Amino acid sequence: MANEPSGRGFAQSGADLELVHVTKSFPGFTAVDDLSLTIPAGSFFALLGPSGCGKTTTLRLIAGLEEPTAGKILVGGKDITNTKAYQRPVNTVFQSYALFPHMTILENVAFGLKRRKIAEPLKLAHEALALVELDHLAQRKPQQLSGGQQQRVALARAVVNRPALLLLDEPLGALDLKLRRQMQIELKAIQSEVGLTFLHVTHDQEEAMTMADTVAVMNKGKIEQMGAPAELYELPHTRFVATFLGQSNLFDGQVTGTEGDTLVVSVPGATLHVSAARSQVSAGAITVGVRPEKLEIHRESPKAAGRQVVGPGRVIDTSFAGVSTQYVVTVPELGDITVFEQNDGDIVAVGEEVWLSWSIGHAFGLPIEAPFDETDLSTRALATAVQ
Ligand SMILES: Nc1ncnc2c1ncn2[C@@H]1O[C@H](COP(=O)(O)OP(=O)(O)OP(=O)(O)O)[C@@H](O)[C@H]1O
Ligand SMILES: [Mg+2]
Repeated sequence: MANEPSGRGFAQSGADLELVHVTKSFPGFTAVDDLSLTIPAGSFFALLGPSGCGKTTTLRLIAGLEEPTAGKILVGGKDITNTKAYQRPVNTVFQSYALFPHMTILENVAFGLKRRKIAEPLKLAHEALALVELDHLAQRKPQQLSGGQQQRVALARAVVNRPALLLLDEPLGALDLKLRRQMQIELKAIQSEVGLTFLHVTHDQEEAMTMADTVAVMNKGKIEQMGAPAELYELPHTRFVATFLGQSNLFDGQVTGTEGDTLVVSVPGATLHVSAARSQVSAGAITVGVRPEKLEIHRESPKAAGRQVVGPGRVIDTSFAGVSTQYVVTVPELGDITVFEQNDGDIVAVGEEVWLSWSIGHAFGLPIEAPFDETDLSTRALATAVQ
C-alpha cells in the first residue's frame, strides 16, 4: 500500500471538506464555536478574520493536531474526526514553517515523497521547486535562504505531496508586498493546475478577496458570513463584515415605514432609504450602511431620482491617493462620512460646503450591534492567559 499515494489517502485531485458543528474549547475559552461549513472539492477557500479569532485552531483541528471538543470533520465524505494526523489526506503550510536545517532544499521537498516510497522523488521535487521559482537554489541549505524563500520551499514541500486538501496558514506572511502579490497569483495558478482543494487562512482582506472563490469571515470563533468575494463586499450581513472587509459608512436608526419595496429609516439628522431585499432586518432598530466609493460629492444640493441625498455638510479632511481622493465630510447629527472619489482633477477643498448622494440600491441594512473592538479580542486572550 505504501507504494501508491492513494494508499495513504493522498489523492490526485481535491476533496470536499466538511466541518459539522465543530467546537474547540480550551480551559475557560472557546476558540472555535459550533463551526459548520462545506468546502467543495477543487475550490479555493479563504478563512479571513482578525488575530485570535480561531483561524489557526480551525486548521489544527482539520489537520488532526487538535481534537475537537464537539463535532465532526469529513474529507471526501469520510469521517476523519478520529483519524490520526499523519493518516489524513491533508498537508499544512503553517504560519511558522519548519524546514529540516541539515537537509538541502531539494531533500526537504523530496522528504515526504521518499518516506512514502513514491517513484522519482527528486524529479517531482525539482518540479515543485520550479513552481515556486526556486529550483536554482535546490542544493542550498535552509539557513542560506531568506525568510520568504524558505516560505516558498515550505509551499513546494506541501504541494509536492498532492494532498487532497492543502491547508495554508498565512503562507505569504514573511514576503514583501511585491513578492506577496506575485505569489498570490502563482498560488492560484498552482491550485487550478493541480486541482487541489485549498483552505487559505489570512487576515489580509485584499488577499482573501483576490485569491478565493469563497471567503468566510470569521469572528470570535464563528463564521459571520460566507460567499463569493463580491457578494460579501456588496452585501455584508453584519456590522463586523461591513467594517472588517473594506470600509463602510454606518448609520444607526429605526425603521419607521415602507414605500413599496423600500424601508424608510429615521436616523438622527436624516431620513434614509434602503431596499428591503438588501436589509437583514425589516422592522425596529437597524443600521444602514453604504460603501465610501458609492458616494458622490456635490457643491450644490442635487436633485436626482432614486438617489439618497444628505447634507449640507462640510469637508473636514481630504487625502489624495493618486487614482482617488478620500474625503471626510461631517454632516450635522449624521456624523463623519467617508467618501472615495475617482480623481478627475476637481478636488473639493477642506472647509467647503457639500452635499452627498448615493444610489438607494447601493445601501444595505444590518442588525444593530456594538462596533467591532480589537481590544475585545486581546482582552479575551489575556483572560485566557491569566487563568
Ligand atoms: N492551547 C491553547 N490554550 C488556550 N487558548 C488557546 C490555545 N490555542 C489557542 N488559544 C486561543 O484561542 C484563540 C484563537 O487562536 P488562533 O491561534 O486560532 O487564532 P488566529 O485566528 O489564528 O490568530 P492569528 O491571526 O493571530 O494567527 C486565541 O485567543 C488563543 O489565545
Ligand atoms: Mg493564526
